Amino acid sequence: MRITERAHLAVRTAVKPGEEVVDATAGNGHDTVFLAKLVGAGGRVFAFDIQEEALAATRANLDAAGVPSERVSLIRESHVGLGDHVINPVAAVMFNLGYLPGGDHQICTRCEETVIALESAWAVIRAKGILTVACYRGHPGGQEESSAVLRAAQKLALRGAVMDTYGLEGSEAGPFLVVLRKD
Ligand SMILES: C[S@@+](CC[C@H](N)C(=O)[O-])C[C@H]1O[C@@H](n2cnc3c(N)ncnc32)[C@H](O)[C@@H]1O
Repeated sequence: MRITERAHLAVRTAVKPGEEVVDATAGNGHDTVFLAKLVGAGGRVFAFDIQEEALAATRANLDAAGVPSERVSLIRESHVGLGDHVINPVAAVMFNLGYLPGGDHQICTRCEETVIALESAWAVIRAKGILTVACYRGHPGGQEESSAVLRAAQKLALRGAVMDTYGLEGSEAGPFLVVLRKD
């Protein structure tokens, strides 16, 4: 199973209809569409990306999926600032790191920002909520960022998070998923 599918499976177990959730890296919008359908009519998705191109692709995918625009807030800002937009506790935050598929590979998530954003995300997640981080090691900076994510996740585990990983045992340059659940 691909790590993105594994992330969806994990998030499904934690989110109820009508809840608020975050896509920290909207990209082409596949996770945003998934989350918008999952929370349904009464729910809300906050979707962050630093690229207008990504948010436009996400909007197009939401429209194609028939998701009403008021259900999703598309925010052109770094996920570092997610705490400024997300006020209520959320059921889930999803990160899918790296660059926009089909876009400029130079514009990608950065280690230092990712670690800060993970802390911010953890702070807004409700009890029994979930954080997923899809990590890619095959591009420049990917190994360093993936290692930093693992270290940050291990710190959260010491503070009571229940941590699972998928794909770590595979090839050294392959992708893996980190799942953290709040007690
Ligand atoms: C692998 S893509 C995400 C794929 C997306 N989840 C999907 O389902 O299509 C990574 C995205 O993260 C975005 N990104 C990079 N740095 C960011 C940051 N600091 N804050 C928010 N998004 C960022 C990139 O612009 C890119 O679109």
